[in-house]
Amino acid sequence: MIQRSPLIAGNWKMHLTIPEATALVRELRAGLQGLEAPQVLVAPPFTSLGPVKQALEGSSIMLGAQNMHWEDTGAFTGEISGQMLLEVGCSHVILGHSERRLIFKETDDMVDKKVQKAVALGLSPILCIGETLEQREAGNTYQVLREQLEGSLASCIDSRALPETLILAYEPVWAIGTGKTATPAQAQEAHQFVRTWIQEVFGEEAGARVRILYGGSVKPENIRALMAEPDIDGALVGGASLKPESFLGIIRYGD
Ligand code: PGA
Repeated sequence: MIQRSPLIAGNWKMHLTIPEATALVRELRAGLQGLEAPQVLVAPPFTSLGPVKQALEGSSIMLGAQNMHWEDTGAFTGEISGQMLLEVGCSHVILGHSERRLIFKETDDMVDKKVQKAVALGLSPILCIGETLEQREAGNTYQVLREQLEGSLASCIDSRALPETLILAYEPVWAIGTGKTATPAQAQEAHQFVRTWIQEVFGEEAGARVRILYGGSVKPENIRALMAEPDIDGALVGGASLKPESFLGIIRYGD
């Protein structure tokens, strides 16, 4: 049986100045001392990536970015390339977050190109999918998840291979930043649907191997029950990753 290592990732979104970000890293490092912790990753805003990388020197905490463009260089004002993320020391990149999809009109086709480029460069994509409240209430959750998977992984489907470094994150939009978490049973049901879809499209091994994180109002109080579900392999944490106490509480599964 394939063992999937749990991963707790902090998505800092558009928060924290450079001094705040590096101070948070110092507190996380201190709090992780001697702790048998799951894998931990932080995804600061672009301006803090370099200083956070330095502050992480010698630590096992990994560094991710929150977005990237699919081209290497070019006239794309305001964008950043995967190569630039590698240069600053990122190993991961969050792609297709619902805020990118909904506010910045990213399409599945764009996310697909980003996933391909990230994988080609050796960056691990954390590919986000999730339904809105309206879609859930209309009974369309699985249809939406299937469409997002089919669209964002279109090139992978064509080549019939799921990249080994790809991580998925199920983030129901109605649970993001709202304090409303999906119940562990609701999250498990969606994760199981996603894993089964991966298995059907890419084979048993890929389905058993792929890590699926849950995201949406994860807190120290609810992480343990979420992690107890068989298809939940970690968490993508927004608000609660901005404070050392709450992020460390999640990393300790609520202890
Ligand atoms: P939240 O955000 O934990 O603040 O709900 C999660 C996310 O958007 O990744």
